[in-house]
Amino acid sequence: MAKRVAIGQAGGPTAVINASLVGFVETLQQEVELFGVYNGYQGLYENDIEKLDDELLGWIKSHRYVNGACLGSGRYEFTTEKIQKSLLHLKKHGIDTLVFIGGNGTMAALHKLAEQARHIHYDLQVIGIPKTVDNDLSETDHAPGFGSAARYVATAVRDISRDLCAMQNFEQVRILETMGRNSGWLAAASGLLRNGGDDGPHIVYVPERIIEPEHFLANVSEAVRSFGYATIVVAEGCKMNATSEQVEKANVQGRTILGGISGVLEKMIKTELGVMARAEILGMNQRSSSAVISKQDQVEAFEVGREAARLVLHGETGRMVSIQRCANIDYTFSMNSCPLQVVAQGGERFLPDAFIDDPEAYYKWLRPLAGEDLQAYPTVRKRRILYEKQ
Ligand code: F6P
Repeated sequence: MAKRVAIGQAGGPTAVINASLVGFVETLQQEVELFGVYNGYQGLYENDIEKLDDELLGWIKSHRYVNGACLGSGRYEFTTEKIQKSLLHLKKHGIDTLVFIGGNGTMAALHKLAEQARHIHYDLQVIGIPKTVDNDLSETDHAPGFGSAARYVATAVRDISRDLCAMQNFEQVRILETMGRNSGWLAAASGLLRNGGDDGPHIVYVPERIIEPEHFLANVSEAVRSFGYATIVVAEGCKMNATSEQVEKANVQGRTILGGISGVLEKMIKTELGVMARAEILGMNQRSSSAVISKQDQVEAFEVGREAARLVLHGETGRMVSIQRCANIDYTFSMNSCPLQVVAQGGERFLPDAFIDDPEAYYKWLRPLAGEDLQAYPTVRKRRILYEKQ
């Protein structure tokens, strides 16, 4: 009898998460009976599970290049009680294998679910497929979704900075806020296309380091004095000092929605330095824009889905697919896997000091993921007349 395999998607979508789903179902559809779990872990708890017939499989496959999560995703507090009920639903459907595509929270929940299954002697095979724009999953060189989001941030900051550079007699400072609750992988990607000298971004803050208002204001003054303008990038999770809180926009179902640190900095610059400053939040485009997908990211997202299918067929369990960077001159990658337990225990992966302190080393690491085709613009030429008049 063919294996019965259920798959779902959870957490914030990425521009390429559906490619992983398609890689998975395409590889397995002749070998097993496939089931879709709708709306992430909530769907599992509410028994929103459906057999994927040819029509549904065709519909899923038509989403290979579509952003969002076509099965539905979402955030959900998956308590032990809910996990136990979910296992009963899976058992009733005769499911042998459960696969979820997600980030840190999803992998931790999957590990918990595997443990609960073992506890009730339910022989459930469990596999995780990585995704996150934040790149904060441990045990993998990087996660699908991050390359495209980094590409978005790098190109958006390059372009907004050139726009500001042209407008120096009107406004001098822009503060661009990126995603990244606790890790600075995305914010730091903003400098990827900086072309030295006067080009922006001039100042980048990651959550791994605190801002320190005095130091910040001195840096902004110096940038405006030297270049005539200052493009500043700040991750949403940055704090003003060691004891301050992250800036919250809202709280939804107990989850803090971050956002607004750029506005706080805007006010401070206006008040303390008396120059025109404008805050911009790069927002959901970072994880959803289909206009700026990295081809490499798209390929790897598909491949992690295929690799998960191979793990299912080989009878592996309690593992997350991971991407390994091969140590060649040109970028190549291979597929690997690691225990879900290690991922769950590893928690969030932060931007290493080595990359914070040496951005060029980070850009070298990042470039193949965001796209070798990306170009820096010609250097900025100072229009000295403006600053000299001030
Ligand atoms: O999916 C992760 C993420 O993109 C984070 O970078 C960001 O903090 C968050 O989602 C934004 O979503 P929400 O506003 O729902 O917290």
